[in-house]
Amino acid sequence: MTVKNRVVIVTGASAGIGKATAELLTRNGAKVALVARSKDKLDKLSKILPDSLPIACDMANENQIKNMVKKVFEHYGRIDILINNAGQGYDAMIEDINTGSIRKIFELDFIGPLVAMQQVIPIMKRQAKGSIINVSSGTALMHLPNMGGYASIKSALAHMSLTAREELKNSGITVSIIYPYMTNTDFEKNTIKEKKQEWNFDENDPDFKPPDSPEYVAEKIVDLINNGAPEMYAHDWFKNL
Ligand SMILES: NC(=O)c1ccc[n+]([C@@H]2O[C@H](COP(=O)([O-])OP(=O)(O)OC[C@H]3O[C@@H](n4cnc5c(N)ncnc54)[C@H](OP(=O)(O)O)[C@@H]3O)[C@@H](O)[C@H]2O)c1
Repeated sequence: MTVKNRVVIVTGASAGIGKATAELLTRNGAKVALVARSKDKLDKLSKILPDSLPIACDMANENQIKNMVKKVFEHYGRIDILINNAGQGYDAMIEDINTGSIRKIFELDFIGPLVAMQQVIPIMKRQAKGSIINVSSGTALMHLPNMGGYASIKSALAHMSLTAREELKNSGITVSIIYPYMTNTDFEKNTIKEKKQEWNFDENDPDFKPPDSPEYVAEKIVDLINNGAPEMYAHDWFKNL
């Protein structure tokens, strides 16, 4: 689907990959509903993105997600594209995972995107057209120490997306999943960590590739909207896995 004149919901639009994606979509002529919790950041961004709509919404709160989609539809009269990007990382060895913390991550990284999909699918079905992009993680393709909880949830998100794609194949709605590589955002800072010690990539490893920029990942997301592929690896490095 081309993005010009399309109405797009970008969750997690106040920072990082979501912000870069909202900016790129606007440059390409889309009308973007900017969704995150930080209303001040969204208001500021909205001032410089023509036709955008800032909406404060906790993507871990089902009622707020329902209200958010309702507001977007009331404002624009249609919803063409949903980008489920809001998310948070979680670092802990399996033996240290706090079940309360991982449930919270599951609410945001899996249930939130699911509820948003359930809200937009009937609208997109009536339009007989739509595109849903869910942002997973390259960690879902690996078995990295400390990432088991987060990666399992991102893996579940990928599985759910590809199942929805199959279910919706005759409806005009395309569901796709993107797996970003390490990206230069505040993601690591915002990641919940159960213990101080961290597992990190060995930067001296000849296979180590430096993080991508959020602008690069945004380009990949727009490419994915355009080509409607089921999956996209944001980094060639994953093709060797
Ligand atoms: N950066 C990486 O290395 C990397 C790699 C692979 C995948 N990813 C995935 O890419 C996506 C974007 O991450 P990022 O790197 O851009 O991270 P980020 O810089 O930490 O940004 C996260 C965004 O999500 C929003 N958010 C967090 N909790 C929220 C909530 N409860 N409700 C609504 N919005 C919420 C934040 O806004 P507010 O705080 O204003 O709510 C912010 O806009 C995530 O799904 C992440 O899992 C990132």
